[in-house]
Amino acid sequence: MARTNARITASVYTSHVPAIGAAIDHGKTGEPYWQPVFKGYEFSKRWMKDNTPDVILLVYNDHASAFSLELIPTFAIGCAAEFAPADEGYGARPVPQVIGHAELAAHVAQSVIQEDFDLTIVNRMDVDHGLTVPLSLLCGQPQVWPCRVIPFAVNVVQYPPPSGRRCFMLGQAIRRAVESYDEPLRVQVWGTGGMSHQLQGPRAGLINREFDNAFLDRLIADPERLSKMPHIDYVREAGSEGIELVMWLIARGAMADVAGGAKPTVVHRFYHVPASNTAVGHLILENKP
Ligand code: DHB
Ligand code: FE
Repeated sequence: MARTNARITASVYTSHVPAIGAAIDHGKTGEPYWQPVFKGYEFSKRWMKDNTPDVILLVYNDHASAFSLELIPTFAIGCAAEFAPADEGYGARPVPQVIGHAELAAHVAQSVIQEDFDLTIVNRMDVDHGLTVPLSLLCGQPQVWPCRVIPFAVNVVQYPPPSGRRCFMLGQAIRRAVESYDEPLRVQVWGTGGMSHQLQGPRAGLINREFDNAFLDRLIADPERLSKMPHIDYVREAGSEGIELVMWLIARGAMADVAGGAKPTVVHRFYHVPASNTAVGHLILENKP
């Protein structure tokens, strides 16, 4: 019998530095400082063209653009038909509107909330560099984004953020939700942010290559164990903004092996320091068909 339900084909992991978006928007990707960063995404752009999904469930964090200190949901799912690029102080990025997938988003909300994860349902939200920079890195500068995108925002900005463990379990619940959606959609789950960086305080500028590379190794080989790493280790080793890395565990938790299936194929791995204040890490993992 032909398969009719949605399935998760791959997961993508990438940093989301705003200066990367500015370099793309202002035609600076060929400059010596930026060239090595964008070289790491050349393969990814080809891969994305060859493996365009129907929908990306894009896990990212809002940086006080859509939310503020007045209201901070731990997990929020964008159920709107579309989402505008946010004005983060320099005008909105000149990138296309993000077209959502309200039906799948509503289904994921229904399924995941009924499995005891409290998601905030968002019917109107602008999306900032946390979401648009990863899209630019993988999709380039198209007139319209090549697929639908469900924004999935995680609080890693105001203490306390969710634990890595909870993020990993949420990824598993998202997988079950997608696989119970009655339409043959190809879905990718992206985990964004990180890697090591600290933007403030006496340790501003902190980068930890050793930690980052071990994180990539562990994310691939033993995410279950990695998910138990406490917050304080992220902050100590990867800096105050390094906590963004917990979002990568949501995407990893959605992969087949975590549910007893085959190990994913590592189709691409890249690491580069620095981009702005941040260590750039990037991975593409494919589920076996
Ligand atoms: C930088 C990195 C971030 O993750 C962010 O949200 C803002 C700035 C940076 O490296 O400059
Ligand atoms: Fe950030």
